[in-house]
Amino acid sequence: MCGIVAYVGPRDSADLIMAGLKRLEYRGYDSAGIAILDREGRLDTRKRAGKLGALAEELVQHPIGDGGTGLGHTRWATHGGPTDRNAHPHLSEDGRLAVIHNGIIENFAELKAELVADGVVFRSETDTEVAAHLLARAYRRSGDLTEAFRDVVRRLRGAFTLLAVHQDEPGVVVGARRNSPLVIGLGEGENFLGSDVAAFVEHTKRAVAVGQDEIVTIRPDSVEITDFSGGHVDGDEYEVAWDAKAAEKGGWPWFMTKEIHEEPDALANTLLGRTRDGLVVLSDLGDRLSDEVLAGIERIVLVAAGTASYAAEVARYAIEAWARVPVAVELAHEFQFREPLLDERTLVISISQSGETMDTLVAVQHARAHGARTLSVCNTQGATIPRESDGVVYTHAGPEVAVASTKAFVSQIAALYLVGLHLGRIRGALDDATHRALVDDLLAAPEKLRAVIQDSWTRIETLAHWMADTHSVLFLGRHVGFPIALEGALKLKELAYIHAEGFAAGELKHGPIALVDHGQVVFVVVPSPRHSAALHAKVVSNIQEIRARGARVIAIAEQGDAAVIPFADELIPLPLTGPWTEPLLAVAPLQIFALELANAKGLDVDQPRNLAKSVTVE
Ligand code: G6P
Repeated sequence: MCGIVAYVGPRDSADLIMAGLKRLEYRGYDSAGIAILDREGRLDTRKRAGKLGALAEELVQHPIGDGGTGLGHTRWATHGGPTDRNAHPHLSEDGRLAVIHNGIIENFAELKAELVADGVVFRSETDTEVAAHLLARAYRRSGDLTEAFRDVVRRLRGAFTLLAVHQDEPGVVVGARRNSPLVIGLGEGENFLGSDVAAFVEHTKRAVAVGQDEIVTIRPDSVEITDFSGGHVDGDEYEVAWDAKAAEKGGWPWFMTKEIHEEPDALANTLLGRTRDGLVVLSDLGDRLSDEVLAGIERIVLVAAGTASYAAEVARYAIEAWARVPVAVELAHEFQFREPLLDERTLVISISQSGETMDTLVAVQHARAHGARTLSVCNTQGATIPRESDGVVYTHAGPEVAVASTKAFVSQIAALYLVGLHLGRIRGALDDATHRALVDDLLAAPEKLRAVIQDSWTRIETLAHWMADTHSVLFLGRHVGFPIALEGALKLKELAYIHAEGFAAGELKHGPIALVDHGQVVFVVVPSPRHSAALHAKVVSNIQEIRARGARVIAIAEQGDAAVIPFADELIPLPLTGPWTEPLLAVAPLQIFALELANAKGLDVDQPRNLAKSVTVE
């Protein structure tokens, strides 16, 4: 949510910042802007509503001067609509200081009133502009940008990554963060700041995450981190594990197309190196999540938002079955307000691709503050949520750029399965033979998923193109197929802007069946009859119930499922697999369907309207 990039060094920063913004555009794309301190020492800005292309066009029409100090911003609007005026950077009244911001300054109204009373004329409707004016005033007092930050951040409430440049301090960018991400990229004679490493990974892989309530000052040859009171902070440097190519489209029409094709590898990489002698061993979870502690856990709560919450819903069934411990799933944004019962025998597992989702971060902070143990399942090295948790299991899905999550989803389920198997083993709830069979099934899943993606794509594409005028699609599933139905519906809403609902198939008769009319398209995720004949039979009955009312059924079922074939208008076959790996295979056709329907409607698959990939506001 809002992408931030800054550079100090010898190069022409405008091109470099635009390239960084391109890589961060998934974080927000309703407007964008840059500020450059040019070689003559002037501060110049350009900003435009619309996607980054509009700003690029503006820079062609009205080029900005060369200079080695600059910052850029791609926005997801919170306060003030996506207009040119509300786009960042925001300037101080004298035009000598430029600010960009990610987050929400919650007390902006009161700060603004104070500034207005003091004669400041605001030029935008944003909360950010108060920071520009406050920083300019503090700068006038101290003549030092870092000092000005120290002054101002103390007055701000809410969440912010705030970056500024001042015309009187060429070669300096200062940033501060609270509850919103900021990462430093360390170069040779140049340094970078970014919302995440994508901003600078093509230039350097040496990164340092800025911690909570810290201020960073970058110059071409130095990086200084302090806390809000000015105390020195040693940043932990780490090497970025993926290279810039991994975050490029590489010839695919969309990032999402590429990322669905990468799902088998994402799954395999998440499982890689995490078994010993056929059993799952997670050995580096830290002291607070030692085997002894985990053996005594009495309750698990999975917290997440969006797609990650559906991964949690799938995993709930598995973890409870394998570790014999009660598991609940909570939407992260509901968690703290419910005042959940938490103690040191509660394990709160957060699931987040970005590791920066504010709702999820706040849930983790709430859990910790109330004594619970916290484990993060995350795809982003060095992100805030894993750093604020007792331990982390990284999903190794590689960078996910398309706003709609795909490969992260399957890798989140896999990582949570690993946690479930680990807990099952150390709690003595799962015998080794069953454990090994589950691991074998998991390890075989990537290649089966590859086959599903390859074999079903064209068929689903044709189906989606036939259905380009559809206004409503329903999704049904039971057991682990239920969250897959929910995820199928979410994908369709996100990408194709179509009314879509997912239901537990058993719930249908309690109300939703009233929605079924002649021609209503219903996707049904059918469990294999080999695992539970009873469950399978119930889903087949549900199919008959909706068919009887005129529904057009698209079944995702195991190949050769003779009970389904006569009742499905379309059948998408899945290879034989275990009951727990079925959802990993079944979700891909639904993702492909949403993508191809958006394509058929001529929509932007990677950047759907109103959304952002990493939502860093509550
Ligand atoms: C946003 C994205 C979703 C994503 C959710 C959680 O809403 O649009 O695709 O599932 O955030 O993101 P996270 O990074 O925490 O997994």
